[in-house]
Amino acid sequence: MIKKIVVVGSGVMGRGIAYVSAVGGFRTVLVDISEEQLTNALSELEKVFQKGIEKGKISAAQQEEAKGLLSYSTELADAVIDADLVIEAVPEKKEIKQQVFETIAQHANESCFFATNTSTMSPTEIGSYTNRPERLIAMHFFNPVYKMPLVEIVRGLETSDETAEVVSNAARQMGKETVVVNEFPGFVTSRISTLVGNEAFYMLQEGVGTPEEIDKAIKLGLNYPMGPFELVDMVGLDVRLNNLKYLHEKLGEKYRPAPLLEQYVKAGRLGRKTGRGVYDYGKKEVLK
Ligand SMILES: NC(=O)c1ccc[n+]([C@@H]2O[C@H](COP(=O)([O-])OP(=O)(O)OC[C@H]3O[C@@H](n4cnc5c(N)ncnc54)[C@H](O)[C@@H]3O)[C@@H](O)[C@H]2O)c1
Repeated sequence: MIKKIVVVGSGVMGRGIAYVSAVGGFRTVLVDISEEQLTNALSELEKVFQKGIEKGKISAAQQEEAKGLLSYSTELADAVIDADLVIEAVPEKKEIKQQVFETIAQHANESCFFATNTSTMSPTEIGSYTNRPERLIAMHFFNPVYKMPLVEIVRGLETSDETAEVVSNAARQMGKETVVVNEFPGFVTSRISTLVGNEAFYMLQEGVGTPEEIDKAIKLGLNYPMGPFELVDMVGLDVRLNNLKYLHEKLGEKYRPAPLLEQYVKAGRLGRKTGRGVYDYGKKEVLK
């Protein structure tokens, strides 16, 4: 049974995962190499807790309980020693994920389950960075984690049925719906959303319309809750570009990143997190 969860990486996703984990009743440690990121995560989660109360999603007592279950650390090796489940949410870079999982596998006990929040990478390959690939699965959360209802659970080649079941149960205890699918680059959701998002950049580059017009057309004409540019500003243009590069390599030409997206990333226009992406936010935005 899962009692203690360690979330590795306290960025956009990790802090949201730590929130739903603590609210779900798990003892939760949020780990990062950066003290500054942990401090930012702490102050942002304060606001998320506050909003949760204002909107009647959690009670003051639930908030207190969840806060009591949540702690922050820069010591990955120590944090995972008695963990039942480790959820990794570090940047989408092979070398970083490999180094993190090697450390986790070395220090976690044999009964610990491992999950990666990768958007696109192979859970089979990430499992190979541990000496227990049958205990690893992808747990793909969506941004913002505390709002989005789904966790897409993706089995690698060696993932055991027990791992799929235990991790699905943990996601449900966090208040999420689940789908369990088999590995293929991009899974179900990233494969579609990167393609739509990339096409929108090609349209912008071709002068088909302004970002506002393209977003409005997609929202009102196709009944999407957000336009592709609103979404990419939230996801992070750098994160999207990394995903596209990976899918381009694995699935071919249709995923070639739009040059305009590459240019925005080079200019540091990474989305809400830097105050400017496709749209200008004036000042640095936090999760809403
Ligand atoms: N942003 C999204 O909308 C989104 C959605 C679904 C999945 N994902 C995936 O989630 C993962 C994390 O993405 P993100 O957007 O939260 O990234 P992010 O850049 O916001 O955060 C990554 C965090 O990891 C920390 N980190 C880096 N190296 C580390 C290490 N060795 N040990 C511990 N912490 C380390 C960084 O300091 C940073 O705080 C990626 O795999 C991404 O593809 C992102």
